Amino acid sequence: MRDGKNIILGIESSCDDTSAAVLCDGFLLSNVMASQEVHRQYGGVIPELASRAHQQNIVPVVSEAVRQAGISLDEVDAIAFTRGPGLLGSLLVGTSFAKGLALSTGKPLVEVNHLQGHILSHFIKVPGKENRAPQFPFLALLVSGGHTQIVRVDDYLKFEILGGTIDDAVGEAFDKCAKMLDLGYPGGPVIDRLAKEGDSSRFRFAKPSIPGLDFSFSGIKTSLLYFLRDRLKETPDFIQNNKNDICASFQKDLIDILMKKLIKAARQTGITQIVAGGGVSANSALRGAITEEGAKRGWTTFLPELKFTTDNAAMIAIVGHYKFLQGLTCPLDAAPISRAADYSL
Ligand code: KG4
Ligand code: ZN
Repeated sequence: MRDGKNIILGIESSCDDTSAAVLCDGFLLSNVMASQEVHRQYGGVIPELASRAHQQNIVPVVSEAVRQAGISLDEVDAIAFTRGPGLLGSLLVGTSFAKGLALSTGKPLVEVNHLQGHILSHFIKVPGKENRAPQFPFLALLVSGGHTQIVRVDDYLKFEILGGTIDDAVGEAFDKCAKMLDLGYPGGPVIDRLAKEGDSSRFRFAKPSIPGLDFSFSGIKTSLLYFLRDRLKETPDFIQNNKNDICASFQKDLIDILMKKLIKAARQTGITQIVAGGGVSANSALRGAITEEGAKRGWTTFLPELKFTTDNAAMIAIVGHYKFLQGLTCPLDAAPISRAADYSL
């Protein structure tokens, strides 16, 4: 506590980023991140290596977040940590560290659902910034490496999933496309960059036909695979010569799938406050599409600052802040859960 304001330390370790952040009454004091380069050479996150790197990073990352915030651990009111969903070995590191810290300092623990973090990242206030925040109810398009959902949010801690992917997440589709084109990992940012130089109308891939507000991305991925296989048979350097157009076209199809369902959800619910969150919400074409459709349809749109699109502990701390205000602390035997996409946590 400082001047009557709550101080929350957040810890995130669900996948391949170790992060710690400090918030004071929702205002960001620090947000430190250690990304793990080790996975690049394998073209995807290797769980065993991820948990090992978290073990190496967690102490320096938390110490640095506390140092940069200019606080002492005594002033922390609660320790918020990601309990799930994510990779179990990765979650174990952050969870165990948070528990150890809580035990040694006597501070309460707050368990946080990672997906709620992505959605509530819009409520993180950055000193000196405008800090627009959505009003309830709003719709969240949650797009990450592991999840693709449309969520109705009626209050800080009241979430209802209106639709989700029945197979792959959209981030996975980006990453798998990049793998097929030999662009490295993670693929989303590279595809985003190359697509800017490409013609998005050049190629079309098979679009899913899924009822309601659900998504599917496995068909379009297979469609790209067969398309490349056939073209490479005729022209061995097809990928090299058409990389930008393939990226632009594939990206456009992915965004069309997302936008179609987002527009449908807004129409069905009558909700016009629209937010995006998750790693894929960094995509420049998706951001453009949401802004453009929003202007056409009278939506008020919220796109997270780029630093809050990717996994970070500030978003965990903001959920921790709202949970702590409601007295929602958790016991020391809280164990990580790898699946919590239904917001049961
Ligand atoms: O939310 P996130 O950091 O981690 C998970 O919780 O999954 O999301 C990571 C995903 C990866 O699939 C990555 O390729 C994708 O976000 N991504 C992007 C962009 N930046 C990151 N996808 C498309 N365009 C981007 N600019
Ligand atoms: Zn995430």
